[in-house]
Amino acid sequence: MKEIGIYIHMPFCIKKCYYCDFVSYSNKENKIPKYIQCIKKEIKENKCKRKIVKTIYIGGGTPSCIDANYIKEILDEVKKEFNVMPNAEITIEINPKTADEKKLKKYKEIGINRLSIGMQSINPIILNKIGRIHTFEDFKEVFFMARKIGFKNINIDMIIGLPSQNMEDMQNTIKEIEILNPEHVSVYSLILEEGTKLYNLVEEKKEILPKDELERKMYWYIKKELEKRGYIHYEISNFAKKGYISKHNFDCWRQKEYLGFGVAAHSYYNNIRYSNIEDLEKYIQNIEDKKFKENIIIHEKQTDSIKQKEYMLLGLRTIEGVKISEFEKKFKQNPIILFNEEIEKLKKEKLIDVSQDAIFLSEKGIDLANIVWEEFV
Ligand SMILES: C[S@@+](CC[C@H](N)C(=O)[O-])C[C@H]1O[C@@H](n2cnc3c(N)ncnc32)[C@H](O)[C@@H]1O
Ligand code: SF4
Repeated sequence: MKEIGIYIHMPFCIKKCYYCDFVSYSNKENKIPKYIQCIKKEIKENKCKRKIVKTIYIGGGTPSCIDANYIKEILDEVKKEFNVMPNAEITIEINPKTADEKKLKKYKEIGINRLSIGMQSINPIILNKIGRIHTFEDFKEVFFMARKIGFKNINIDMIIGLPSQNMEDMQNTIKEIEILNPEHVSVYSLILEEGTKLYNLVEEKKEILPKDELERKMYWYIKKELEKRGYIHYEISNFAKKGYISKHNFDCWRQKEYLGFGVAAHSYYNNIRYSNIEDLEKYIQNIEDKKFKENIIIHEKQTDSIKQKEYMLLGLRTIEGVKISEFEKKFKQNPIILFNEEIEKLKKEKLIDVSQDAIFLSEKGIDLANIVWEEFV
């Protein structure tokens, strides 16, 4: 039977961070009770029931800003309608200001076994510049509390390329990471999203971002220092201790199927990529009116050719790249022959390397990954 992942989207935050354009709202707490009931109904209505669930990812927004009993209700519903593996990886995203001992204990009790905590930066000036609601001390308090409660798989999110960030920040960050010793670190390069407060501040020259060269220098510094400390760089933005890669995300990059529930949640199932609409009120109304299909937007029904290209694009996000034997097993074709033109071009530009059994990003390709991915769009 097919193994799938499940993604649950919680679109609520205490305050919108200045860089963030995820579908999340800071002024719609009154919608939470109805929203939870809608997600439960959406799960119940799903036609892929009884599938084996390998991973559950509760993301947002800030899932930790709602009552932990709601999270329990949703997990109970998933367990009722799907066949959740006993050792399933169950992750929840946490903003440090929104979690306390009681919440963390509840998460543990209901079977959550992986936490992803948004640290972003350790520098108080930067945290303030990007509109975070917490300090680094708040972050550490939650992190060590989680450890005390017994969480053995914790990710921390950080962003590079933030206003006034520099190499000294990176050196200090590495020292702190060494003390924290998380199992997983996500190092995101800032995406300056149009329409965000930070975008406007940069446009108005009220904030200055580090130059590209400095951003890349910070990235390579963090990469090398994490590797020295035993982290495996397994995806362009992700590092994990041995045995702790994010199963949920890794499966997505290997084109495995997942179902998303909640507003704006994306799904990939039966060769179709689709998502729910982003309008919270409409999403709720459609579910209450039992018009489930009206919440869905189909993005792509994949032909074999689209699927093969996408497999390359996703695989080239991972550091080990696309395994030639796995591609052959899946598509009964050799990717080197199928994508000969693209591969030769990228090889000539020194953006990818090809080994006995893999096609993967070169060091230059890691810095210019967008150009590589463009070839497979
Ligand atoms: C849904 S948030 C994580 C949980 C929680 N909401 C928080 O912020 O602490 C997912 C992560 O995406 C990253 N992120 C969000 N917007 C980004 C952007 N514009 N550029 C780079 N990374 C971004 C942040 O590191 C953030 O922690
Ligand atoms: S980064 Fe996290 S807390 Fe900040 S607005 Fe985005 S989802 Fe909310």
